[in-house]
Amino acid sequence: MASGQLSREEALACVGCRHACHILLYADTEAQLFEEIPIRHIVLMQMRFDGLLGFPGGLVDPSEESLEEGLSRELWEELGFSLSVTLEDHVSSCHNPSSSSSHLITHFYARRMEEKEIREVEKAAASTATDHGHEVAIVMGMVRLPLYTLKGGEGGLPSFLSHSFIGNSRSQLEDSLVRFGLVTPEELQTALTHAEQRRK
Ligand code: GTP
Ligand code: MN
Ligand code: MN
Ligand code: MN
Ligand code: MN
Ligand code: MN
Repeated sequence: MASGQLSREEALACVGCRHACHILLYADTEAQLFEEIPIRHIVLMQMRFDGLLGFPGGLVDPSEESLEEGLSRELWEELGFSLSVTLEDHVSSCHNPSSSSSHLITHFYARRMEEKEIREVEKAAASTATDHGHEVAIVMGMVRLPLYTLKGGEGGLPSFLSHSFIGNSRSQLEDSLVRFGLVTPEELQTALTHAEQRRK
């Protein structure tokens, strides 16, 4: 396992650790951008109130609810959408050593949805979510990732990856894009190289 990775069981055994659960929601799509560029997959992140990109989800106290119940609750608050997260959705748990007294363990989940369902998530997040406009930035809310690269090599995924991400959500994103076959390792590498050049 990569450094900092631990099993869900090991994570729950940690005394004094705080836990945060976030989820990647994605779907396959036949839709095309400009009726020309295949979008291939709809992948959701959110623009947070602090201006950083991250996944929907939040802090869970395992003494009050299970990790998955807590994540489902956060999704209801942030997306206005009822989704029952299960153990099968769990992808990884990561220990984030910090200077403050209580370490944070970030649990990451992923769920493949039908296109129809994920479009309902987008609609709900934009209208009925209770925390929309509070924890999630008012105007932006949910963000759909561009998985394509436009001519010239900058627009699309490279420019998306040059934004700022909360915590380790950026590596969660990069790992899962390849893990779930949403982009090829080569496509990701090319996009990262362009993103790196953009930041300079
Ligand atoms: P509160 O109202 O403050 O409780 O917000 P919340 O429960 O929705 O928590 P939030 O989503 O902000 O996540 C809690 C902490 O987890 C953040 O302060 C970050 O350090 C971290 N975090 C937030 N989003 C992500 C993410 O997408 N991935 C990872 N790995 N960490 C995240
Ligand atoms: Mn929240
Ligand atoms: Mn949150
Ligand atoms: Mn919360
Ligand atoms: Mn809150
Ligand atoms: Mn694919």
